[in-house]
Amino acid sequence: MGTLLRVNNLSHSFEYPLFSNLSFALEKKRSMAVIGVSGSGKSTLLHICSTLLKPKNGEVFISEKNIYKLPNDELVDVRRNEVGIVFQSHFLFKGFSVRENIEIATILTKSDFDKNLLERLGISHILNNKVGDISGGQQQRVSLARILLKKPKIIFADEPTGNLDQKTANEVMNIIYEYIEKNDAALFLVTHDLNLANNCDIVYKLES
Ligand SMILES: Nc1ncnc2c1ncn2[C@@H]1O[C@H](COP(=O)(O)OP(=O)(O)OP(=O)(O)O)[C@@H](O)[C@H]1O
Ligand SMILES: [Mg+2]
Repeated sequence: MGTLLRVNNLSHSFEYPLFSNLSFALEKKRSMAVIGVSGSGKSTLLHICSTLLKPKNGEVFISEKNIYKLPNDELVDVRRNEVGIVFQSHFLFKGFSVRENIEIATILTKSDFDKNLLERLGISHILNNKVGDISGGQQQRVSLARILLKKPKIIFADEPTGNLDQKTANEVMNIIYEYIEKNDAALFLVTHDLNLANNCDIVYKLES
């Protein structure tokens, strides 16, 4: 009950082994952080847990569904409806405005355009700007807005505050924590920032 993500005996390697026999679970309203040196496999683990990459060995369950055993259309449904992924580098449509980028996401996932959230993220005054013309930190917050508006069960965030100053970073993290509390969701965070990691309920370190 309440387990949103469960990982059993996960192993993965590219040219060299990254990790083997990882097992853990993430309950609703909980947050976990993954830390470790560059190249230790943090982003790879996040991709595996968030439907994007099939592991060499092991199983990933999201809301009790063994995701890499699902037919592809059901895997796509899980990706669209249950997970929200904040990438290390974000994927916004550069030629479009902030408003258009957010609208595309709300239409795809049939969710509301929540002006209040945009205000709290500090991006309500740049809705008409082209994404190519706003700062990296602002782009990061537009990506987060798109993700929160679709109300995912698990937020996967890969260095979500990498481009932000300390104050904005704290605000963004507070919005994420409030979101998981209110929506019975969970957070899977990858970060180099030990302070951010230590605010999570569980911290895992990948050794090289
Ligand atoms: N698609 C891929 N094909 C081959 N090798 C890959 C692939 N993706 C990642 N790797 C390799 O796997 C290792 C782990 O990469 P990963 O991106 O998971 O590290 P990371 O811990 O997130 O690092 P960073 O902190 O720099 O973001 C690296 O050596 C990387 O080059
Ligand atoms: Mg990474």
